[in-house]
Amino acid sequence: MPEIEAPSRPTITREKLIDLLNEDLEREYQAIIAYVNYSQVLKGAAYMNIAAELAVHANEELTHALSIANHIDYLGGMPSVVPKPVKTSEQAEDMLRFDLENEKETIRQYRRRVKQCDELNEFALSESIREILMQEQDHLVSLATALGVDPPNPGIAD
Ligand SMILES: [Fe+2]
Ligand SMILES: [Fe+2]
Repeated sequence: MPEIEAPSRPTITREKLIDLLNEDLEREYQAIIAYVNYSQVLKGAAYMNIAAELAVHANEELTHALSIANHIDYLGGMPSVVPKPVKTSEQAEDMLRFDLENEKETIRQYRRRVKQCDELNEFALSESIREILMQEQDHLVSLATALGVDPPNPGIAD
């Protein structure tokens, strides 16, 4: 006898989504701080273009933070006030690598979040996160370009 599949139930709850969005918000705060710092600290003629671009990223990350905080409030949660830890370095290349790693993780998480919002029929939220994702992918590409590497594929979070 073929097994009858049980009707699919959401694997995510609204409470869990609030927690995950708060992690996203903490990553956005982390990105704001890193980009504010690195955009001013990066030295060397070779890095002047990317330093200016990092200042643009800082502004975009603030817009993301406001948007995610708005979604958390909409879901009845309390937006976090704590950033994830920010790494620092004296080396320009290290700073860019830290940023690239953070953008990879951010994209992995947002890819999952789009699916989770859809699962809860929160289509406006997933649409908003898709727009953020587009900018995060631009960030990833500009960092990879500055480092002279191919943009990595971040995959999707479990
Ligand atoms: Fe962001
Ligand atoms: Fe970003």
